[in-house]
Amino acid sequence: MMTQKITIEPVTRIEGHAKVTIHMNDDGSVERAVLHINEFRGFEKFCEGRLYFEMPSITPRICGICPVSHHLAAAKAADELIGAPAPRPAVMLRELMHMGQIIQSHGMHFFELAGPDLLLGFDTNPAQRNVLGLAGANPALALKAVNLRKFGQEIIRILGGRRIHPNFAVPGGVNKTLLLAERDLILTGIQPAIEAVQTGLGIMKDWAERNAADINRFAVFPSGYMSLVTPDNGLELYDGAVRLVGASGLELEKFPASSYLDYIAERVENWSYLKFPYYKKMGWPAGVYRVGPLGRLNAVDHLSTPLANAEHIIFRSLNGGLPVENTLYYHYARLIEILFAIERVQALCEDGNILSSDILNTRKDYRGEGVGVLEAPRGTLFHHYKADENGRLTNVNLIVATGHNNWAMTKAVDSVAKTYITGPVVQEGMLNRVEAAVRAHDPCLSCSTHAVGQMPVQIDVISASGELLQTLRRD
Ligand code: MG
Ligand code: NI
Repeated sequence: MMTQKITIEPVTRIEGHAKVTIHMNDDGSVERAVLHINEFRGFEKFCEGRLYFEMPSITPRICGICPVSHHLAAAKAADELIGAPAPRPAVMLRELMHMGQIIQSHGMHFFELAGPDLLLGFDTNPAQRNVLGLAGANPALALKAVNLRKFGQEIIRILGGRRIHPNFAVPGGVNKTLLLAERDLILTGIQPAIEAVQTGLGIMKDWAERNAADINRFAVFPSGYMSLVTPDNGLELYDGAVRLVGASGLELEKFPASSYLDYIAERVENWSYLKFPYYKKMGWPAGVYRVGPLGRLNAVDHLSTPLANAEHIIFRSLNGGLPVENTLYYHYARLIEILFAIERVQALCEDGNILSSDILNTRKDYRGEGVGVLEAPRGTLFHHYKADENGRLTNVNLIVATGHNNWAMTKAVDSVAKTYITGPVVQEGMLNRVEAAVRAHDPCLSCSTHAVGQMPVQIDVISASGELLQTLRRD
């Protein structure tokens, strides 16, 4: 059959570079759609030969979007590499910083990146369908969103000394205590932050009610789901075992981060620089799974904080207690996690141990190998280092959140393209839905490809004979 090709490059309102190619049939239907991740800088190779203790300050350079996640995962890997577990107060302070990152990253995604689609509509003129258009339409909401993000950033700044590329976690602990006045300042931000998320939840639920038909046909498919969990399978973002549940919600596996290579394999495809992780025992493609907010809230049984747990109960009822398969519910899950992170900030700050000066373990039991894992905003992040007896790194392996979701993003793009696109002339709003399928996962392509930056969008519609039929361009 003759096919046409539509290319969306790069996808907008995500972090980094990506390209979508849509292959059309002659009858105007979509044959298949593929997500390509373009750039690759080889950060893992670049780190070889460096000293393990440099990693908490080197790896945040991978990404201007989620430096804190790399900073903390690197410190955790280094703790293990030198056999110096961080004392409890240091663990609490690291988690506090991590919650700051979750709040600011998720807050930005919901209100600024996804918000324009949700509040203004997928089909709104793209000149208005952005954060400025949103601020114009609802200035009060925009202000709440800005303040929510600022709350998260302030936590990072207080602990890390600056808002980006923090200098805080070191092998064996952290290098700064939390002062009483700083703790009290953080606590004053709790209530307004909770109110901002509740406004977001109101928006989400109202939107879901009005767009139920879309939600139920927009990239809905089964997969496995992955998250770190507490010993009783509650949500855990900083520490804990890795839990993998299957499409039916039953536990497939629970394992310590250090043995991740026994459970996760990575597939290479020649059309993408980003590998495709999957659950080894089930093989490819049966063993594919999702991470990030939707993956986590499907992989855990409960949340330890009251407001977020109440929302999680509602979330899990959406599919009668079975995992929620709808890609657009990533947005709902993301809001629930902001609520969880704010409540964790409060719980951590109300625990007197957070002010302790016992923040660094100086005793070592050098092992030369360490795995650090945490739940970055976008999903499970692994840092795995091997070093020689002088502490020089001989091997570095990273599996980033967006990598775990590589299959899911491609699947979502294909599904949405087939559901919504009919040719030969494709409406902009339909292509925006394809982008939204990627955007829902909040991919950090800076991390996945280790390349920073954004380019304008170009969408080419190409006929089977190679003739350019249609070009859409956004700068
Ligand atoms: Mg890797
Ligand atoms: Ni990143």
